[in-house]
Amino acid sequence: MNKAENTKILPGEIEKQREIIKRLRRWNDSQYHYSQRRRLALVVTYGCQQNESDSEHIRGILGEAGFDFCDSAADANLIIYNTCAVREGAEQRVFGNLGALKHEKQKRPGLIIGICGCMVQQEHITKQIKQKYKHVDIIFGTHTLYRLPQLLWEAVSERRMAVSVGHTGGMIAEDLPVRREGGVKACVSVMYGCNNFCSYCVVPYVRGAERSRKPDDILKELRQIAEEGYKEVMLLGQNVNSYGKDLGGAADFSDLLGLAAEVEGIERIRFMTSHPKDFNDKLIKTMACCPKICSQLHLPVQAGSDKVLRDMNRGYTRADYLEKISKVRSMMPEMAVTSDIIVGFPTETAEDFEQTLSLLQEVRFDSVYSFIYSKRTGTVAESLAPVLADKVVHANFDRLLAVQNQISKEINDSYLGKVYEVLVEGESKKDPSTLTGRTSSGKIVNFTGAPDMAGKTVSVKITAAQTWSLFGEVQQ
Ligand code: 5AD
Ligand code: SF4
Repeated sequence: MNKAENTKILPGEIEKQREIIKRLRRWNDSQYHYSQRRRLALVVTYGCQQNESDSEHIRGILGEAGFDFCDSAADANLIIYNTCAVREGAEQRVFGNLGALKHEKQKRPGLIIGICGCMVQQEHITKQIKQKYKHVDIIFGTHTLYRLPQLLWEAVSERRMAVSVGHTGGMIAEDLPVRREGGVKACVSVMYGCNNFCSYCVVPYVRGAERSRKPDDILKELRQIAEEGYKEVMLLGQNVNSYGKDLGGAADFSDLLGLAAEVEGIERIRFMTSHPKDFNDKLIKTMACCPKICSQLHLPVQAGSDKVLRDMNRGYTRADYLEKISKVRSMMPEMAVTSDIIVGFPTETAEDFEQTLSLLQEVRFDSVYSFIYSKRTGTVAESLAPVLADKVVHANFDRLLAVQNQISKEINDSYLGKVYEVLVEGESKKDPSTLTGRTSSGKIVNFTGAPDMAGKTVSVKITAAQTWSLFGEVQQ
């Protein structure tokens, strides 16, 4: 059998879940009939864009099952935490929230509490929840999101903890309901999982091996969102440069970008995340040739020292990385480049850290997401003893922020007085009297304008620059 045909969850299984959604809908409708108020759901998301995207599917399922949505735990009849396992801090916050809900559940026994995502894909965490957080009703992992209807039904009809954290043998659930926000930009997953096993990272363990969606399924979704009026798409994967390797040569990521660019109505395409080891010339050329692909590249480098990169199992050297950046910039000088950096990897010495700082100065990233190393159960780096004291690592982290903030501000200053095409996303959340949008390079631009500009691309002259955003005036 063609490998590509072997990767979908059996349609019969999805159909079964759809039937349960209808049952949940009838249950919710009867409640509505009785109280004239719909049950409310709160979905809280931690972590990356992939989790945000999974939450859109969770909301899609819950919406079809007859729930409305709210922003506060106190109003909610159903609370789902979609969790992240990449760093310990996010896990602790979830445990804190779960602990706080114990009391709420005693007051309101009808409250349903669910926990899902990467955290519960770790055996020791699921065990801890089952033992210490018995007020949790539903636990499901990243592989079994499609079974949420069944688990929810078990939890409400049988009043017992419903758990599904198994793997699905690399299969993909297509055609799940989805509920997106905003109406201008949408995220679409092109692949799931990661095969890289960077020595610090838990993702390959919790999200499993790489598996790509078929190009036809992705294109169908892209046409759908274009029909709904979305103008921009972010193609998502832990390592998009590996896209298609499991599809028997049907298409690689560059081919997929080419196909996506043909979808009428989609005006802008972004993607993340690229891995420097697999980021190749074909992709650089595709980006340079296709006007719909935005001038933004997120290329996590993680560290500036070859020794640390080797210990991280990243598969490239500092020189390899710099060469790829200079190729990108020679073909696309306007490209905004962003990155991820880990500070305090166990084998990182003071000199290694200086090399990370010098790399920042050399590359001059537009912005950087920096993280203090967090030890993760089951990873190779777990057993490594740290060279630097915690205090030094925190001081290094602050130094890195200061260096990068200055570079980010200088780059933003270079936008002053120039005119850029900005796709308007809508009113700014912070200040509803302003509109907000982005340049092709991903810079946030705030400006005054009419709310009906949302979804349109307008020319904006930049009048002020801050470290994280720009301000401007619409050009008539
Ligand atoms: N500790 C700190 N940061 C990490 N990341 C991944 N694993 C860890 C960890 N154990 C960071 C990497 C990655 C980003 C998504 O999260 O920089 O690119
Ligand atoms: Fe984690 Fe490395 Fe995979 Fe990224 S490429 S998800 S850092 S293992």
